[in-house]
Amino acid sequence: MDVLDAIMGRRSIRRYKSNPVDDAKIKTVLEAAHWAPSWGNKQCWRFIVVRDQETRSKIADTLMKIRVENELVENAAARGIRQAPVLIVVCAEKGQAGFRSDGTPVTDKGDVWYMFDVALAVENLALAAHSVGLGTVIVGGFDTTRVEEILGVPDGYRVVTMTPLGVPDHAGQVSPRKDLAEVTYHEKFGR
Ligand SMILES: Cc1cc2nc3c(=O)[nH]c(=O)nc-3n(C[C@H](O)[C@H](O)[C@H](O)COP(=O)(O)O)c2cc1C
Repeated sequence: MDVLDAIMGRRSIRRYKSNPVDDAKIKTVLEAAHWAPSWGNKQCWRFIVVRDQETRSKIADTLMKIRVENELVENAAARGIRQAPVLIVVCAEKGQAGFRSDGTPVTDKGDVWYMFDVALAVENLALAAHSVGLGTVIVGGFDTTRVEEILGVPDGYRVVTMTPLGVPDHAGQVSPRKDLAEVTYHEKFGR
């Protein structure tokens, strides 16, 4: 699939078929993630492939409820985590991206660069998944500390995000974007 087709055709998928996902496809999407650019090529990301239903269910329970019309409802991605046969949890090693080898920060943004590097990897993963017929939804609203406990993530690492990976059970809805002109300026901010 052409890269622009993959970018324009990918949608967040929150309902999955129970079909298994073969290991070759999982490897393909992880390779795509791992070939993302990263600060100083430090590759601070770590991927945890979770297949176990009970673990996925426990992780789904950590997703934050969302307020819709004054009612708290389950995060729409929770069902996807329970349904899809695979969950990819993405962690970052702290103090790598954005830091010199002596541990001093290079920029005034401190440790935010691990979020940046992980985001690049996860977007690669989502596009690669779409190109091989699999769905994803990037998940941010969960109890990080609880997920780290469930997965035994050691000090020095942080769980950043996760995505179910499976065969989509729907086409995914198109979430419209703002006009490009609204978010693009020329020469100076705001113009
Ligand atoms: C950092 C980040 C966190 C997100 N967290 C959630 C989430 O917790 N639950 C969810 O259902 N979708 C989540 N999403 C998916 C967005 O809602 C979705 O990408 C957006 O509405 C645009 O739709 P599209 O991905 O289909 O283009 C997240 C996306 C990003 C990039």
